Amino acid sequence: MAQHTPPAPDPAAAPQPRDWDLRADVLSTEALASGDPTAWFDRLYAEGAAGEVGMPWERDEPQAQFAPWFEAWLARHGGDGRGRRAVVVGCGLGADAEHLAAHGFETVGFDVAPTAIEQAKARHAGSTVEYRVADLLDLDPGLVGRFDLVVEIFTLQALPNPPRAQAAAAIASLLAPGGTLVLVAFRDTGLPAPELPPYPLTESDLLLVETGGVVLTATAEVADGERWLVTYERPDLG
Ligand SMILES: C[S@@+](CC[C@H](N)C(=O)[O-])C[C@H]1O[C@@H](n2cnc3c(N)ncnc32)[C@H](O)[C@@H]1O
Repeated sequence: MAQHTPPAPDPAAAPQPRDWDLRADVLSTEALASGDPTAWFDRLYAEGAAGEVGMPWERDEPQAQFAPWFEAWLARHGGDGRGRRAVVVGCGLGADAEHLAAHGFETVGFDVAPTAIEQAKARHAGSTVEYRVADLLDLDPGLVGRFDLVVEIFTLQALPNPPRAQAAAAIASLLAPGGTLVLVAFRDTGLPAPELPPYPLTESDLLLVETGGVVLTATAEVADGERWLVTYERPDLG
């Protein structure tokens, strides 16, 4: 009797995770239509965690424009972060928060998406970073004015206006007197404004952050002009 050899599995036929950014368009459309512009983040991370889509904003290294800026800033500020506090707003999976903690900062990473925080904790077991679920739009007063370094990468641009102006002021409010805030975002290049996030930031958007009592100190066009890297400081009037 002839042996029946089962056919080798066809890798192309195996279920593949869908593109998370296509799914982001669907989920953000639904969330915006329901009047809740932040609801889609956790839904997207949850689908990523379940393997239904690729994990959104997946990376293990510090963000490409932030990393060299941070190295230069640190060289001008004593070489490490010991004795200082840092926070990463919308920290996602935690790569930037881990980078700050590895350089000695007492670091908080917060995100509105509980699944992102679960993932960040699971990926960085034993980390010194305090990961927490928190909403910029309903900020815990215990975080206000507490940080020497505030890092905001791609969160403001993910929000329509409203509530972008409120979020911008809330980001600034985290900064202690004498502290520095660094923001990385897509730069508006004059193309028609997109209907869905991300919304590239205009120069007027950058000034929204100043409503939180900080002063814009430098604006750079980076990544071949595709992005902003902007710094702010809170004057130390003491
Ligand atoms: C475009 S993702 C960027 C994630 C991360 N900063 C990075 O660069 O990989 C925006 C992040 O901001 C978080 N976020 C959005 N609105 C927020 C809010 N109101 N408060 C806190 N986090 C928020 C989202 O959950 C998401 O993790």
